Order: sequence, then C-alpha cells, then structure tokens
Amino acid sequence: MSDTSGAGLPATPDLVILNIGKLASAPAAPSRGPEMRSLILRSDAGIAVVGDKIAAVESSAVIEAVAGGTTMIIDAGGRAVIPGFVDPHTHAVFAGERRDEFARRLEGQEYLEILKAGGAIISTVEKTRAASSEELSAGFSRRLSRMLAAGTTTVEVKSGYGLNLLDEMKMLDAASVDWPGQTVKTFLGAHALPPEFRERRDEYVRLVCDEMLPAAVEHGATFCDVFCEKGAFSVAEARLILVRAKQLGLGLKVHADQVNPLGGAELAVELGARSADHLGAVSPAGVRALAGSRVAAVLLPASTLYVSGASRAPARALIDEGAIVAIGSDCNPGSSPVDSMPLVVSLACLVYGLTVDEALVAATANAAYACGVEDRAGRLAPAYRADILILDSDDYRDLAYRLGARLIKTVIAGGQVVAEPESDGPL
Ligand code: NIG
Ligand code: FE
Repeated sequence: MSDTSGAGLPATPDLVILNIGKLASAPAAPSRGPEMRSLILRSDAGIAVVGDKIAAVESSAVIEAVAGGTTMIIDAGGRAVIPGFVDPHTHAVFAGERRDEFARRLEGQEYLEILKAGGAIISTVEKTRAASSEELSAGFSRRLSRMLAAGTTTVEVKSGYGLNLLDEMKMLDAASVDWPGQTVKTFLGAHALPPEFRERRDEYVRLVCDEMLPAAVEHGATFCDVFCEKGAFSVAEARLILVRAKQLGLGLKVHADQVNPLGGAELAVELGARSADHLGAVSPAGVRALAGSRVAAVLLPASTLYVSGASRAPARALIDEGAIVAIGSDCNPGSSPVDSMPLVVSLACLVYGLTVDEALVAATANAAYACGVEDRAGRLAPAYRADILILDSDDYRDLAYRLGARLIKTVIAGGQVVAEPESDGPL
C-alpha cells in the first residue's frame, strides 16, 4: 500500500475525494507479465490534491481530517475511482470522414488495396492539406472534448496526413490545442508515400530525414513514428528514418506488423523504440523480442475490427511472455473512428482476451509509458498529475463488463473537475 500513500499529508489540500469504495491503480510504470494483474486496490480510500498534482492517497478518514475551509470536497459515495486514461496512439488531427470507404470495406474491399488505389490514408491527406490549421484544431478540440468526457486525460497524437513539410508542420501546430489534459506529439511523415513521389521513393525518404524531421522537433514533436507495411514503408526505409530521428533526440514508435509480418517489431527492438504498435501479424520471434525488451506493445483492438484482413494481435502471448502491453484507440477517420477508451478497455478484454486488471493497466500506466509520461500520468500516486475518474459504479470491472455503457461520472484533469458527463448508472 505504501506505493500509493503520501509521504507527508498536505496542510490544506485544494481538493479532496472522500469515501472511495474501491480505488484501483497500476503497481508500477510500466508493468509487464503477471504484474499487470496485481493492481493496487484500496477500499474506503481518499485522495488529496494540491494544485495539479496528487498529494496523498490514504484512508478516507485520514484525508477528511486534513480538509480545510478552502478545500473542495467531493464525496465519491462508495464509487470506484481509477486514474484518467492515457490514449497512447491516435491520429486525431485530420479533416473529413471516410464513410464511403467504410461501406466499401464492409462489402469486402481490403484496406491495403484501397490505399494502393490512392484512397484510405491518401484521401484524408487531400482533405487535410486543404484545411487550415484553425480548422484542424477545431476538429481536434471536438474530439478531445469527447475523449475527456469519456475519461481520457492524456492523448498522443500523430501528424501523417500532410506528407509535405508545410502540411506536416501545420498538423503538429494544430495539435497544440489548449485543454485540461496533456498532449504528446508524434511526427509521422512516413505514413504513406505521397502520390507526387510515386516514382521517387528515395527522394521522399530523404526529404523526411533531412527537412521534415528537424522541423518536427522545432514544432514540438517528441516522437517519430513510421508506418512499416506493404504499400507504405519497408523495414529498410523505416530504419533510415528512425535512426535519423534518434540522432535528433526523438523517441521512436513503429506502426509494426499491422497486416503483414515485415519485422517491424524486431526493428523497434533493434532501435530501442518506445513502442511497437498494432502487431496484428507479428511473428513468434517478434513476440519474443518484444517480451525481452523495454519496447511497449501497443494494441489497438478497435482497428482490428475495422480493417478486414488484419488479424488479431497475439495479446495473450505478449503478456504471458512478459511484454509491456498498452492499449489505445488509434482514433482516425479510416481504420478506427473511435475515441472512447472505456470502449477500448472492453474490446481489449472481449476481442484480445485481456483480463480486466490487465486492460486497466494497459490503458493507464503502460499507456503512459508508451508515450514517455510514465513519471507523471497513469497512476494514482503522490506527485502524479491529478487525473482522476470517479465511476458510476462501485466496481471498476464494470468498465469492461458493460460494453458501450457510459460509466464515467466525474472527470478530474490536472486537479480541475472538468466534466460531469451524464452516466448510464447501475445495471
Ligand atoms: O493506425 N495503419 C496506418 N495508419 C492508421 C490508419 C490511418 C488511416 O487509415 O487514415 C492506423 O490504422
Ligand atoms: Fe495508427
């Protein structure tokens, strides 16, 4: 229990949450293997918040005793409390939608075939290039509001629909939206080969390395990602880009082995990436490599449902062999028009076979690790950001059990009560 307790109780907290029926938080950041099933659970708990940080997690009675006249008091009434969700993989800055493509995919067309014919990612590139930075920010803000109401308090967001210097930087700038949560920006200039470079692949890779990457650092990106897939970028091309990104001080991510087992996972391990994402087709050797590394395996169960031909990631093998597994929404207009982390938690259990405790760790502390903020987000512990969710249930397992239910009663981000969404209440 010492892990969640305060070393010293604050004189007068700004906010306290009392009468928490069951508080659940990850044991470490990150956790791997069986450790993902040993959540820290605490009954009759209270939390004290000073400024934007958690100051103490103790019994409700101890926390109540330090509340003063200026302290805002929230009575959780026996409800369950968990950390705010961290969504470690989104493409949530974009223009337009792709309902027609969705219909075609339901009729049997394959995602990579549509991409090859100049649709999919490329159709969003056309609309995103035509949009202003303000229009992109407005769309991102709308998505952030929905994410926040569903409990996401940290979001990773990628560029990748600009595919030229100006429009990639426009996307990174548009991601600088002011909201109560925190944003982590990733440069994904190698998301698809832009049509104007069809016969000049090497030239585009050089452009990414020589011009876009240094500019991305200037525009606030802290990670570089590459879509390593047939019809996108090869392992050799991805290596060139990621090695350059590493030289520039960026953390690395790889869209790895989503549909075809090219060896993206092995590349991520070779280069010491922070995460390898998707992994629908990862090989047994790739699973072993991830399990023996500090590379997070970020699983995106919603996009598995949307992309025909993409098989399910071997989630059980990854956890059982000891990998650091995280889950995310992959929010984007094509392969995952999904922004709800509670839904992703349910799908992780129902589609990928995670236990509820594993899914909660994967969506909080491990997701924070996957985007490099594990020292400040994803756990209910002193010195962490006060990103706290009060559920409309006395049991956090309802999050996975009740697919699609709205169970987030109160969202606190950075110490501020930012949303009191209408919840569905008890079953
Ligand atoms: O993570 N796979 C590549 N990139 C995205 C899809 C983006 C899109 O279809 O627009 C993904 O699924
Ligand atoms: Fe993605």
